[in-house]
Amino acid sequence: MYLTREEEGIYNGEQGPTLQKMMEILVALGDIYDAKKLIPVKSAQIAGVSYKTIGDAGLEWIQDLDGKVKIPAVLNPMGMDREAFVEMGIDPHFARKQEEIIRAYEKLGIMPECTCTPYYLNRPRFGDHLAWSESSAVCFANSVLGARTNREGGPSALAAALIGKTPYYGLHITENRYPTVTVKVEEPIHGAEYGALGYLAGKQIGDGIPIFRLKTTPTEDELKHLGAALAASGAVALFHVLHVSPEQYVLPPDKMDREPQRLADEDDWQVPERFFLPRERIEVEVAKIRETARQKASPDIIALGCPHASKEELEEILTLLRGRKVKKEVWVCTSRALGQKNPELIQQLRNNGIKVLYDTCMVVSPAANRFKCMMVNSGKALKYTPAMCGVDAVMGTTEECIEVACRGE
Ligand code: F3S
Repeated sequence: MYLTREEEGIYNGEQGPTLQKMMEILVALGDIYDAKKLIPVKSAQIAGVSYKTIGDAGLEWIQDLDGKVKIPAVLNPMGMDREAFVEMGIDPHFARKQEEIIRAYEKLGIMPECTCTPYYLNRPRFGDHLAWSESSAVCFANSVLGARTNREGGPSALAAALIGKTPYYGLHITENRYPTVTVKVEEPIHGAEYGALGYLAGKQIGDGIPIFRLKTTPTEDELKHLGAALAASGAVALFHVLHVSPEQYVLPPDKMDREPQRLADEDDWQVPERFFLPRERIEVEVAKIRETARQKASPDIIALGCPHASKEELEEILTLLRGRKVKKEVWVCTSRALGQKNPELIQQLRNNGIKVLYDTCMVVSPAANRFKCMMVNSGKALKYTPAMCGVDAVMGTTEECIEVACRGE
């Protein structure tokens, strides 16, 4: 990989051991993926924050670093709400260690905003290059915003934050962003069904780049849930939705896996003259999507906000409550910044018995482990909570989750 004179100096240790270590990470990554150079990035989102996932070894590694980030950088959710950890039942040893991790990151100039929806704080623009690591945030940035980021590991996102650059490979390059598989859904779907679609389709797509042909136009929250589930059950970092998402490529035939198939004559979409979709096709049955999104159970916790809830999702929950108090444990995870911007909304939810949690989530917090069965409205949480928290997970629509919570059954 080509390095400028300044980059080479950092690599040789001229600016101290921390930057040298960070440059070594970037160069090693660049060599593996055959990157030709480093490019500047606008922001970083760094995973590896919960004490539950990184432990003492991770904490010591961060504490040994020295320096200041060159670009705005935030963190992934941690293991607890910093102000409600007692209420969450977090033990004091864990809380102390978690605080040490946050302080170590803060010392490097990283904002102690712990969220998987950093785009609600600072929305990247189309074409911006980023170094983000949480898989749903990566999928959202690439697919919904048209920004460009690979799915970084915690150390490589941190290295990008401290150097201000990332190797130029993968999804930073236009040619690598073309769709590889067409996914059809033949009936309209809504709400949590998008997460169920991502959960089902992700298993078949793996690390491909799907383009969806849908019968409804998804909202931004629905796209968020689709991407989060695709990234969890598969390894999708970018998807397109025909006529919806910002990158609508006109694919030349030599970029197709097989012979391109022109769709203009075969269905009712207004397909541009030269718009080809990948020949490889998957159809996800609507009955299967509905079945996945509506599972019957008697949960002892209902956890919403995976990915972290938007203002619109918080408002929807409040509307669905219709003034009723919940009779079960209900968590709604969101970012502290979003909560602080909407104090009345948060207070109203809390008045109805909802625990609105900041900085954390049901998957990365050890507090979820004490429950037996968790009901979620997210395809990603459905996939991860059994393995990460040792609880059974069932999926319901947001409406059903709130009904179950209010009926107390
Ligand atoms: Fe975010 Fe935690 Fe879900 S990090 S995407 S709320 S698993």
